[in-house]
Amino acid sequence: MNFSAFNGRLATLYTTCAILISAGIVSLVSAPLFDHAKADDNLPADITTIKVKPSTADSPFKDLYSGWYFRAKETQNLQKDDFENPGFLWVEKGQELWSKVDGKAGKSCASCHQDAQKTMKGVGAQMPKWDEKAKRPLTLEQRINTCRQENMQADEWKWESDPMLSMTTFIRLQSRGMPVNIQSDGPMEAWVEKGKKLYYTRVGQLDLSCANCHENNYGKYIRADHLSQGHSNGFPTYRLKWQKLGSLHRRFKGCMTNIRATAYKRGSDEFVALEIYLAHRGKGLQVESPSVRN
Ligand code: HEC
Ligand code: HEC
Repeated sequence: MNFSAFNGRLATLYTTCAILISAGIVSLVSAPLFDHAKADDNLPADITTIKVKPSTADSPFKDLYSGWYFRAKETQNLQKDDFENPGFLWVEKGQELWSKVDGKAGKSCASCHQDAQKTMKGVGAQMPKWDEKAKRPLTLEQRINTCRQENMQADEWKWESDPMLSMTTFIRLQSRGMPVNIQSDGPMEAWVEKGKKLYYTRVGQLDLSCANCHENNYGKYIRADHLSQGHSNGFPTYRLKWQKLGSLHRRFKGCMTNIRATAYKRGSDEFVALEIYLAHRGKGLQVESPSVRN
């Protein structure tokens, strides 16, 4: 799709939202193309993990940039300071839940997995992961619920519930700084392909694919929002707009709704496949959870 067609669609998007947005902050796709030469000027000296070379052969990017890079200074600083980062309220809750007995088996996560700092190190970076018993990949949420049901005889946690967000954030934190490293060959290959297909399929009334925004137009502005490459390494993420932490699948839903497409459900095979494909294309970027976004 050429630029004017893309801008035309965004103009439609803008028109539908214009009533809600005060005209002052609106600047629609105004910045020039992402300038790789100048981009490095903005890289902070104290964080070296924001930009990495792609490690997959089929990567569409010359460099991978974490979503952190595209956020405003204040938002970046919130993420950098664990005491300021509101996501850490969920980390604390997750840590408490880790050793809380629940369910008919009278067990907590710690009963089997002991010290999360040791046993969960690196686990979050490998999710979603193939599960031999289920004969399918499980996201971190699905793996946790499998343990709750089968190993604790406890009820499932809802996808976007506070306990689930707290636990996924707590577990992902144990991989912070480690490169995203999911398996994408063997039985996972078909899922990567399924996710890739969804990623490039245009949907919704605006007839856009994920790639139209996050691949062809990152570095530009949609209204007041600076478009990133749409990676998953920072999730769960604390969004200032949500005033709380949210899952990756919540973000997917938001992006699909914005282009007026019918969004898939959290935990659906479509979203699991998209999650797998995003992790695949973002391999090498470091886990940042809990990240902070606007
Ligand atoms: C109309 C343009 C548009 C389309 C199409 C779109 N998104 Fe987004 N997306 C955004 C904007 C704007 C944001 C917030 C700023 C940013 O990180 O790019 C965002 C954010 C994200 C993020 C969070 C990135 C981060 O670091 O926090 C992910 C992940 C994402 N999108 C995935 C997707 C997926 C998957 C699709 C396709 C189903 C999609 N997006 C389609 C505009 C779009
Ligand atoms: C009765 C023991 C038991 C309890 C209690 C339990 N688990 Fe598990 N969990 C297991 C076993 C066994 C595995 C490994 C399964 C496998 O290797 O396929 C596992 C695997 C996992 C994994 C994937 C690890 C990896 O390396 O991929 C995660 C994440 C996990 N459990 C989280 C939890 C959480 C969170 C809780 C508490 C809500 C919990 N588990 C409670 C036994 C338990």
